This record gives sequence, C-alpha cells and structure tokens, in this order.
Amino acid sequence: MKNKIAILFGPEGGNTERVTQLVANKIGNDKCTVIPVNKVTPETISEFNSFIIGGSTIGTHNWSIANSSHDWDVFLPEFRKMDFRGKKVALFGLGDHLAYPNNFVDGMRTIYNVLVENNATIVGQCKTDDYEFNESEAVVDGKFVGLPIDEDFEDDLTENRIDKWLNTFINKL
Ligand SMILES: Cc1cc2nc3c(=O)[nH]c(=O)nc-3n(C[C@H](O)[C@H](O)[C@H](O)COP(=O)(O)O)c2cc1C
Repeated sequence: MKNKIAILFGPEGGNTERVTQLVANKIGNDKCTVIPVNKVTPETISEFNSFIIGGSTIGTHNWSIANSSHDWDVFLPEFRKMDFRGKKVALFGLGDHLAYPNNFVDGMRTIYNVLVENNATIVGQCKTDDYEFNESEAVVDGKFVGLPIDEDFEDDLTENRIDKWLNTFINKL
C-alpha cells in the first residue's frame, strides 16, 4: 500500500489537467501521484488509500457513451467495477457557471454516485455560498459533493478555492 495520495483526473490536455497539476503542487508533488483516468486499473485503486478525483462536465448528457469521447466516458464502465471500500476520496469538478447555470458541474455527481455505490468515504464537500448558479446535480444535502472550479469565468478564484478546500480535509486523508 502506497502512503501517497492518488490524484485521478480526466480529460487530459485541458482545464482539468491544469487544475490537477495545481492541486498536486499545493499538496506537494512528493506526497501524491497524478494518474489520468485512462491509465487507472483495479490495481491502482488497491495500491492507495486516499484519492482526489477530478473531471469536467461536457454536455448536459452527462457522459453518455454514445455521443462523446470524453476520457470519463471511456473510463466509467471500468470505474463502476472498482471497489473503494475503506478508501477516502475528495472530488473536484470543472464547469462554467455562466454558460451552464442549470447544469453547473453536474458531472461531479456522476462520479460521486459511482463512488458511493462502491463504498467510498467521501470527504471535501463544499458549501454552495461562494458560487452563483441556478441548479446543479452535484449538490447533495445542501452542499457540493466536491470542489467546483470555473476556469472559464472565475480562474482568478481557483487558487484560493483549492487552498481553502484542501485545508478542510487534507489532514484526514
Ligand atoms: C460542449 C461543452 C459542454 C459543456 N457543458 C457544461 C455543463 O453542462 N455544465 C458545466 O458546468 N460546464 C459545462 N461546460 C464547461 C466545461 O466544463 C469547462 O469549460 C471546463 O473547464 C472544461 O474542462 P476540460 O478542458 O478539462 O474539459 C461545457 C463545455 C463544453 C465545451
């Protein structure tokens, strides 16, 4: 069992990857291992106890495999089979609160549902107070299931949001 935090992310090459690197830098690159979801196997999950998992919301269809090549579309069927019992997981999700105020970071909910189904302990939920949006599937019991990040219109807030968020759970991972 590795003592590090595994940061799993997708897709590669965009905002999610950049924010993933930022999160890794904040935690300390010696304390975490960054892995794109398309390289994640069941062994990856058994090797770590603590995870941070990130994705972006592309489309209101929420990653239906028929009409997207989003890395999460490809990974999701495998992800559904992975057992997270005894694992702690924090989530972050990229979204756009101005263009998609009724589906803000909905994709986080898809990941969350799989994790809960597969027995993960979720940490790092976020208050909704600091965000402007109408609706989000990623709100459960009045809180976001993870950290929303808007690189399209609020990139100036990203670093502070990450710092604040990490402080709420990093000692528990
Ligand atoms: C076609 C398309 C659909 C999108 N749909 C949503 C959405 O439903 N909800 C949301 O919050 N953001 C949505 N976004 C915004 C993206 O999540 C956002 O730009 C994100 O930073 C992209 O990250 P990536 O480059 O890692 O994919 C959408 C963007 C595109 C291009």
